[in-house]
Amino acid sequence: MTLVNLKTILEKARRGGYAVGAFNVIDLTFLEAILDAAQKQNSPVILNIAEVHFPFLTLENIVPAAVMLAGRLPVETVLNLDHGLTIEAIHRAVDLGFTSVMFDGSHLDFAENVHQTREVVRYCRPRGVSVEAELGAVGGEEGGGLVGSADPERYTDAGQAREFVRKTGIDALAVAIGNSHGKYKGAPHLDFERLADIREAAGLPLVLHGGSGLSAEDFRRAVLLGIVKINFFTGMSQAAIRTAQDCLQQGDERYNDYPAMVRSVRNAVGAVVEEQMILFGSAGQG
Ligand code: 13P
Ligand code: ZN
Repeated sequence: MTLVNLKTILEKARRGGYAVGAFNVIDLTFLEAILDAAQKQNSPVILNIAEVHFPFLTLENIVPAAVMLAGRLPVETVLNLDHGLTIEAIHRAVDLGFTSVMFDGSHLDFAENVHQTREVVRYCRPRGVSVEAELGAVGGEEGGGLVGSADPERYTDAGQAREFVRKTGIDALAVAIGNSHGKYKGAPHLDFERLADIREAAGLPLVLHGGSGLSAEDFRRAVLLGIVKINFFTGMSQAAIRTAQDCLQQGDERYNDYPAMVRSVRNAVGAVVEEQMILFGSAGQG
């Protein structure tokens, strides 16, 4: 199928009572793993490419591959710029054919976040590209240390969320409710009461970043309270590293060790993605 935008896929998720996983693509191996999983689970899927990963991939090579492979699938796929930090990255993504962008203004003060997000919406809307933005700050540092923790001072405020949505015209809002990028320090504690308030105030599709390390029960409750997109990366990265380490420890060297390792990594990453699709409830909804 041709790519769809985020608004389209999230509206269906809202009606169906499930969340769509947004999985980060860092190369062709991850791209194939994610799309294979979507096909096997008959699940809609969001391909995330994060600006922090730009140094590791060539956008001009990976995007045509993503568009072509997604086009062959029977399920709906979104190509989303994950954590776009600069206006340049947003323009580059839209020009290359992304159907959705996330603008991450979490490091800005409220007024500046509103201002810059509104500029992004003004650029994207006429081009049919959806916009997700962040208010408050998800814990951990994308592209930083592996263990992150959320700062309650920076949780999303429901009142501000109402104003932010009204002033910016975004399509989806990423919330900070105790969720964190990377591995959680101790057991994660999501503030579900706050999530309920944000949903009530914002009245639009909500996004949960930092999906790795959360439990099936966390996902179930989050979806009940308006989460329709869940971002997930660290769990895939850990599965890839574990698999590569296992392969490297095997004895006799063989001619095809490296291609075999890449294939094993792809299968391991695909298995993790399939597992998440089942947990998010998007399996079978393609
Ligand atoms: P995790 O790596 O913690 O799963 O978070 C992914 C994410 O939020 C990408 O935007
Ligand atoms: Zn994120």
